[in-house]
Amino acid sequence: MASDQPIRLGMLGFGTVGQAVARALQRRAHEIATRTGRAIVLHRVAVREPAKPRPVALDGLHVHRSPLEVVEQPDVDLLIEVMGGEEPAASAIRRALELGKPVVTANKVVMARRGPELLGMARRRGVPLLFEAAVGGAVPIIRPVQESLASDRILALLGIVNGTTNFILTEMTDAGAAFEAALQEAQRRGYAEADPSADVSGLDAACKLSVLASLAFDRWVPLDRLDVRGLEGITARDVQYAGELGLAVKLLAFSRLRDDAIEAWVGPALLPRRHPLAQVRGVNNAIWLVTEAAGELMFYGPGAGGDPTAAAVLGDVMDAVRRHAARLPTDSRNGSWPVAGVEWEPARMVEPGGALARFYLRLQVLDRPGVLAATADIFGRHGVSIESVIQKGRGEDPVDLVFVTHEAPLAAVERVAAQVRELPVVAWTGPLVRVVGGA
Ligand SMILES: NC(=O)c1ccc[n+]([C@@H]2O[C@H](COP(=O)([O-])OP(=O)(O)OC[C@H]3O[C@@H](n4cnc5c(N)ncnc54)[C@H](OP(=O)(O)O)[C@@H]3O)[C@@H](O)[C@H]2O)c1
Repeated sequence: MASDQPIRLGMLGFGTVGQAVARALQRRAHEIATRTGRAIVLHRVAVREPAKPRPVALDGLHVHRSPLEVVEQPDVDLLIEVMGGEEPAASAIRRALELGKPVVTANKVVMARRGPELLGMARRRGVPLLFEAAVGGAVPIIRPVQESLASDRILALLGIVNGTTNFILTEMTDAGAAFEAALQEAQRRGYAEADPSADVSGLDAACKLSVLASLAFDRWVPLDRLDVRGLEGITARDVQYAGELGLAVKLLAFSRLRDDAIEAWVGPALLPRRHPLAQVRGVNNAIWLVTEAAGELMFYGPGAGGDPTAAAVLGDVMDAVRRHAARLPTDSRNGSWPVAGVEWEPARMVEPGGALARFYLRLQVLDRPGVLAATADIFGRHGVSIESVIQKGRGEDPVDLVFVTHEAPLAAVERVAAQVRELPVVAWTGPLVRVVGGA
């Protein structure tokens, strides 16, 4: 990159985020050039269907079908990857790093599944690989964890990192909507994909948790070691009972350090309504950190959307350009995981069954004398103590019976739920939902 020449970008993908990047590069060209000391221009793009009509036209750009072809061009100085998915994105990023080209990606799937390999390559080659937009969209969280809090020790993190499910739960809470109706509303507004399974199942949040927890705890927290549950089975009634208990339902990504092992899960959880995360509404995201020195911190804002995400992508581009210009070597704070020169070991994980929490469990039982005692007896036999019970719908059959337990290992509460389900008086049991106090 000669210093009087503009930086020429190759961009893989020209969809929601890619088009917003192109728009922002034009609109804010002056600020971007002033703040980096270099003009930055979009030069080549890869898309699947070049002829497709788009709100932002591809005019003036070299358009390719092959991502690798863009990477290989000698006139591409820096690569932006906003295609999504594991492949061909990971291979293209790898090749760019091999060629010594800085890479900026918004792709949580690539960072969760291939992060160790790609960041290792970036570190060895001394080339930045930056991914602020991959977690929390526009919400700055990667850089604060890696840089601002570098001297601190993160003890726990709780995140609302999936805007679609947060929108659904907000609709269920505010309007008393059923899950399906809330999902349809999210799709109508463009917040949910036609196939919403990655959001609803918790997989999208799990990818983000894997990346964030790895950075927070300085060791690799593999995606396939997370306990991942989705919103399936959560009903408007659960949202209503949670409200009666002074709690709000959220899809949480949770991780904490316990005796030098990592406990990490994604799932529906009940939070006290006064907790700042409980106030996060609609498609917004928020990440709550508990640290040794700084205490409690919350990072909040739009977790998705073209323009917000493009702002995070371009912030990374500008950072990479500044670093490259200064010829700084890439080190652990340069987008790599976590300690310079040290290869990354998988974390010792708390087995999911050993994870401790309070739990909410809703049953539908036949309204007969002795049902409460028979169910409570099963809890007792497994050493799970009950904090509160709500019995609803007297006169109806079946009636709702809601238990909230004291803190107990997941495995014990799962055994309770399995045995309770076998009782002849129990017509139905809902999913186990954790109750999270503070951190
Ligand atoms: N949208 C958001 O709010 C948001 C927020 C944070 C992070 N992200 C991440 O940003 C990335 C992009 O998201 P998006 O919403 O912009 O996706 P999108 O609208 O679906 O756009 C994807 C783009 O990539 C192109 N593409 C996909 N596979 C390709 C392939 N094999 N070869 C060439 N081009 C290919 C598509 O080409 P065609 O246009 O021809 O189909 C399209 O232009 C994803 O990793 C996503 O997770 C998105």
